Amino acid sequence: MKDFIEKFRSHYGVLPAAAARAPGRLEILGNHTDYNEGFVLSCAVEQSTFFALVPVEGTVCKVIDFRSGDQMSFDLGEPDAPPARNGSKYIKGMVLELMKRGMKCSGFNAAIESTVPLSAGMSSSAALEVAAGFALMKAFDFSLSPADTARAGQGVENIYLGLKSGLLDQFSSIFGKKNAMILSDFRSVEVLRTVSLPEGYSIVVINSMKKHNLVDSEYNVRRQDCEEAAQIMTQIFPDSKTLRDISWEQLNCARDRMSDRVFRRALHVVGECTRVIESVRLLEKGDVAGFGKLWFESHESSKVNFENSTPELDYLVELAKSVPGCLGARLSGGGFGGITVHLVKTEAAPEYAERVAAAYKLKTGIQAEYIICSVGNGAELYNF
Ligand code: GLA
Repeated sequence: MKDFIEKFRSHYGVLPAAAARAPGRLEILGNHTDYNEGFVLSCAVEQSTFFALVPVEGTVCKVIDFRSGDQMSFDLGEPDAPPARNGSKYIKGMVLELMKRGMKCSGFNAAIESTVPLSAGMSSSAALEVAAGFALMKAFDFSLSPADTARAGQGVENIYLGLKSGLLDQFSSIFGKKNAMILSDFRSVEVLRTVSLPEGYSIVVINSMKKHNLVDSEYNVRRQDCEEAAQIMTQIFPDSKTLRDISWEQLNCARDRMSDRVFRRALHVVGECTRVIESVRLLEKGDVAGFGKLWFESHESSKVNFENSTPELDYLVELAKSVPGCLGARLSGGGFGGITVHLVKTEAAPEYAERVAAAYKLKTGIQAEYIICSVGNGAELYNF
């Protein structure tokens, strides 16, 4: 953070009025459950985005991205201008979402720095929204609860960018805890508890380096399918509101009331909610092998039921079953490309990652990037 503040000072000639850091996140179990008001086990990673700003007169906001050197700007006097094709769209979106909630804002000079890989499935956009949100609120003397700050970030995606995502990414970036996973309930929108990472194991992230170009539209279609399933279930079980309320037995009862596709989507979400709760029980008993098995089951369900996997992600997960040291692997996040997470014995992690990457390259010709992850704390303001 210190170097970042120094870079800001040498670029703008003044110190920032506020600066914040927000991490990327990993979804450990609980795929596409958040917008179904279900459960998720997730964590924040050390890789983070930094955002700092100083207010200026007028309505023009300038942003420099120190990673790329890109200088961007937007005008608060033109709130309806279409989102820019660069990172400033997340910042303008966050400003608009915060203003909608009552923040008074002038123009500003801002800067971004980040170590979160872009578009890989570690929520670089949520990290930027949250870091910007924390710093903007501090600079313009406004405050929201952490959960409402996450909702403002979600609003950027839902309203401003048209991606109907849930709250998971921003929520994990805010509430993450060092060396722990968080078990979250997206009905009450709270962290139910933290769950320690099994001792002696690391999370290895391996990026397939391939992403479907229809990620956002596919995501929205999956959400629609889940809503259709939930509506059908409510007709049969009036007390159920979303797929979070549905058991396997209930879903099976309704099998002939929905298309095969919609049934499989619902099966995935119901299965994921169950696996999240089961994973906490297994970890409490110290059953790390059982925990890892759930990762493989989760991936299989993504592949077969939710159809949000890709041949590349499937291959990385297949490799996890044969390369020694790994207890479980799955795609993490929205899917349709991006990353896989692997639960690996810490001492075996570097060699494991190298071997998987080498085998992946042999088959696909693609050089996969990997990270042996450290689990970090959630977002924070920098105290000058
Ligand atoms: C993306 C979305 C989240 C969540 C995950 C899937 O990361 O932004 O809200 O739905 O996909 O679990």
